[in-house]
Amino acid sequence: MSRQPRSWLFVPADSEKKIAKALESEADALIFDLEDSVALPNKALGRDLLRNLPSRSGGPQWWVRINPLRTEDHRLDLELLGSADIHGLVLPKAESGADITELAHRSGSIPIHAIVTETAASLFGLLSYRDVKDSPLAAMSWGAEDLSAALGAASNKDGEGRYTAPYTLARTLTLAGAAAAGVQPVDGVFADFRDEAGLIDEALDAARDGFTGKLAIHPAQVGPINAAFSPTPDQVANARAIVAAFAADPSAGVLSVHGRMVDKPHLIQAQRTLARAGE
Ligand code: COA
Ligand code: MG
Repeated sequence: MSRQPRSWLFVPADSEKKIAKALESEADALIFDLEDSVALPNKALGRDLLRNLPSRSGGPQWWVRINPLRTEDHRLDLELLGSADIHGLVLPKAESGADITELAHRSGSIPIHAIVTETAASLFGLLSYRDVKDSPLAAMSWGAEDLSAALGAASNKDGEGRYTAPYTLARTLTLAGAAAAGVQPVDGVFADFRDEAGLIDEALDAARDGFTGKLAIHPAQVGPINAAFSPTPDQVANARAIVAAFAADPSAGVLSVHGRMVDKPHLIQAQRTLARAGE
């Protein structure tokens, strides 16, 4: 699949059962996790299971979340490169573009998805991803759980279940930082995996704002996420009409389509919608 993944499903790498289940899921990308969901004594088992994954035949992209830079496990995780059919690496606790440069120095041109809001310092580095030379960065996502621990928060949500200011700031800076860097913005995890209505609301909010995918932690979240990040038939029809109108009148700067003014930003959005729809 060459389109940007809509659903990115985390799978603890030390669980054979969850790996088997994930391989059957409709996720666009799987993230085999060697970091926070795997206890220290199980990390070696996780690496062994990843080394022995069955050979691929289509299906979701395979990504591996390695441990943070400058840890012993990070070094051991990188030894997996070349031994499994890994599409890309997910780097947790990333703080700036310099971290991407440092990882790429060791991992070469393999794509990197960085989780960019997990430490206090990370919030000050979000523009720096734009300036990495020959960058293999492909996606940036944000996370509220590690950030609340780093900030010492009692909770990251208010009484009505809405993220409080530090987390909406992190979310917005991730979106803008990813757009500035020209990489995919990916919305964070919705932890309450039994609350499908809540997940759908959050995913649709993210899609409206410009995110093009979302992290998932449970196979049941994949379908709703794929749906939320797929353009609707109405959106596709409208985008086709805008692209067709400009194609028919290449010298026009501004046009009217279905009684609405459209100019360059609308054309860019329409082209993006069609690309997301696979056209
Ligand atoms: N990937 C693959 N399979 C998963 C899965 C996942 N992320 N989460 C659950 N499953 C499987 C379960 O093993 C279970 O399989 P079974 O029917 O064969 O028994 C089935 O889906 C239903 O799971 P359920 O009973 O609803 O949930 P659970 O209590 O087993 O697991 C979690 C709940 C949160 C522990 C689990 O979803 C999980 O491990 N998520 C990923 C956590 C993670 O990677 N975090 C790091 C990023 S924040
Ligand atoms: Mg974490």
